[in-house]
Amino acid sequence: MSKIKRIAINTGGGDAPGLNAVIRAVVIAALNRGWECYGIRDGYNGLFLPERYPDGGLMRLTRERVRGITHLGGTIIGTTNKGNPLEYPIIGKNGKVRIVDRSSEVMRGFRKHRIDALIAVGGDGSLSIANELEKKGLRVVGVPKTIDNDLDKTVVTFGFDTALSFATSCLDRLHSTAEAHQRVMVVEVMGRYAGWIALNTGISGTADVILIPEIPFDIRKVAAKIKERERAGRTHSMVVVAEGAKHVGGERVVAAKEIGRAERLGGIGELVTRQIQEMTGRESRVVVLGHLLRGGSPTTFDRLISLRFGAAAVRALDEGMSGVMVALDPPTVRYVPLEQATRRMKCVPLDCDTILTARDLGICFGD
Ligand code: F6P
Repeated sequence: MSKIKRIAINTGGGDAPGLNAVIRAVVIAALNRGWECYGIRDGYNGLFLPERYPDGGLMRLTRERVRGITHLGGTIIGTTNKGNPLEYPIIGKNGKVRIVDRSSEVMRGFRKHRIDALIAVGGDGSLSIANELEKKGLRVVGVPKTIDNDLDKTVVTFGFDTALSFATSCLDRLHSTAEAHQRVMVVEVMGRYAGWIALNTGISGTADVILIPEIPFDIRKVAAKIKERERAGRTHSMVVVAEGAKHVGGERVVAAKEIGRAERLGGIGELVTRQIQEMTGRESRVVVLGHLLRGGSPTTFDRLISLRFGAAAVRALDEGMSGVMVALDPPTVRYVPLEQATRRMKCVPLDCDTILTARDLGICFGD
C-alpha cells in the first residue's frame, strides 16, 4: 500500500453537534504525521460539482483553519443530505427524472487531487456511499455521526447526547407551563425510524407517555393514561412522540417526499395532540423541536467522543486499515467493517432495560 501524503475528510447527511470537533482532531492528527488535509465541500459535491465552489470544492485544512472550532455546532466544510452521487437525480428536458451513477466522477476527483484516503463522517446513508467507494478502490475510514443514534455496531454516535440534553431541558421547561395551564403538552422529536431520542428524553424529562416507531401505539391507551392521571389529581401530562411513531395498523406521517433524498418525516405530534384533546377534553398543545436538536455546542461527552473518533480514524489509516468505521466500545474505540455497520438500522430493542425502566416508572407506550 502506498504511503499516505494527502487525505480528505467529508461530512454527509444531517449535521450533528461534534462534526467540527471530529474535523479538528483529524486535521491535527494528520498534520502531525506530515500529511496534508483537505475538506470536501458538502458531502461529495465538492468533488463532482466543483464549478459550484469558488475554491474548486476543496478546502485546505490547516492548523489555523481548525483553531477554536471544537465547541461549534454545524460543520465548517458543509454537508448535504441530497444528491447521493451513486443515485444522482437528473431532470431531463421532458421533465422526467433519471437516476445516474456519478461515482466514477467522484473517483476521478480523488485521483485528480491526488488524495490517498478519505475519512467519511456520516450516518448510514453517507457511510454506505463511502463503503461503495471503498469497493471501487478508495481507502476509506468512517466516523459514525447522527443525532438519531441509529447506526449499528457502535454503542453511540456523536451528536446524540447533545440532542438528548437539549430535548430534556425543553421538557423541563414545558412541565411548568403545562402545569400552570393544566394542559397536555405533546413534544415531537426527530430520530427518523428509531426511537432513541424520544425514549431517552422521555424518561429523563419525566414524560407520562412516550411514543416510538418500534412500538405502534393505540391512541385510546394514551387517552386512558391521561384520564387515569386526572383521576389521581394530575391535571397536566407530558407526551413525547418520535417523528417516526405510528398508530397500530397505521402509516408514518410524512411531511414531504423529494426526489433524490430520504422522505421527510413530521406531523405525528400535531395529529396526536388533536386526538388527545378530542378524546380527553383536555386542552392540548404541540411543540416540535425539529432542527433545534441538531444545533448548538456539543456536550462534553459529544466533544470527547468526536475528538476520539477523529484521532482514531487517522490512526486507522496510519495502520493501513480501510473499509472500517470507528466505533465506541467503552472504555475504548475499536474498528468495525463498514459493511457490517451499514447493513441494518439500529432500532431500540423492545427488551432493553431502558424500555423496562420506563415501564417500571409507569410510563405509557400506548401498547
Ligand atoms: O438524520 C438526522 C435527522 O435530523 C433526522 O432525525 C430527521 O428525520 C432528518 O435528519 C431531517 O432532515 P432535514 O434536515 O433534511 O429536514
